[in-house]
Amino acid sequence: MIVCTQLDPSSNKQHRMKERLSDNEILFTQITKLNAELFSQLRKLFPDYKIQGLKHRGETPYGKKYWRALFDREYASTSEPQDGSGRDLQIAMHTAGELIGFSDFSIHSRKLVDIPFNYGSVNEFFIVPKHRRKGYGTILYGHVEQLFAKHNVGTVLLTPDPVTGVDFWRAMGYEDTGLNKGSGEPLIYRKHLAPGETAEAIDDAISKLRTPTQIIAINPYNKRQLSEMTPIWRAYCRENDRRFHKRDVMATAFEARKHRDVSFAAIYYGGRIVGFLLRKNNEEIRFIPDSDNKTLLIYLAEKEG
Ligand SMILES: CC(C)(COP(=O)(O)OP(=O)(O)OC[C@H]1O[C@@H](n2cnc3c(N)ncnc32)[C@H](O)[C@@H]1OP(=O)(O)O)[C@@H](O)C(=O)NCCC(=O)NCCS
Repeated sequence: MIVCTQLDPSSNKQHRMKERLSDNEILFTQITKLNAELFSQLRKLFPDYKIQGLKHRGETPYGKKYWRALFDREYASTSEPQDGSGRDLQIAMHTAGELIGFSDFSIHSRKLVDIPFNYGSVNEFFIVPKHRRKGYGTILYGHVEQLFAKHNVGTVLLTPDPVTGVDFWRAMGYEDTGLNKGSGEPLIYRKHLAPGETAEAIDDAISKLRTPTQIIAINPYNKRQLSEMTPIWRAYCRENDRRFHKRDVMATAFEARKHRDVSFAAIYYGGRIVGFLLRKNNEEIRFIPDSDNKTLLIYLAEKEG
């Protein structure tokens, strides 16, 4: 049944809400390989959602085949609904077999920031394109938040899609932590579901991570980060009589992803890349052009305590 409201049709929002299903027609189901019909609708949409999200973050993502395989591996491998204790949940929101939205979230996360407190995270979240701006995202998030509360999660962190996610998460009560600003890494937003001493301690721990200096692995798919690194790599080659090839920045970043004993990271100061760290063949190169500048001194002072 479609709920038609009798509100002023000139209002955009009221118009958008006109064709929304009533709340009791909306179902939430943990994805398993047993609910194959729902799963196949989601499997079809998932690659486009992932590819679009990564493009919004300036990356050049793998193609659909890769994301479909990841979906099969990560989401369709469980055969039993999970109770959420200490693990990830994947919830489909649907009605009469038609998928409306999807969320993957963690009850105990460690992925986003390294702090000595438990926090939850929303890892994936989307509404099927034709159902957007009708309030379904709010309903799905409401369900996710109820599950967080059921599992005593006091604080939730997430990284909003910079193009399509920020306004939505702000509307859901999330705030920017100020971490990763200008670093090319996803921004981290947080919401306290249970205000109090722990919430304050979490904010305090997060604020300690907010230093002007950050060291972040170079992402071979992040074009913005690669192009910011290029002049620094050029300066390094010039100072070390090395032949400069622009593509070496990306190639080294790929090498670091493949080999555990190689690491290649950008040094950020105040949101800008000022140098890099390269560890390879048991050798460490720290390079900051104009190395007598204040930035290096601050960096070394911070890193060395
Ligand atoms: C972001 C997304 C989940 C929102 O779902 P939705 O069902 O459209 O959201 P709602 O209708 O419940 O919107 C709730 C509020 O969020 C804000 N909002 C949602 N989409 C917005 C947009 N495109 N532009 C501006 N504000 C937006 C508005 O404040 C909105 O309230 P309003 O309609 O009263 O103005 C959906 O657009 C989507 O799946 N986008 C692509 C994937 C994505 O970005 N996911 C988030 C990843 S972090």
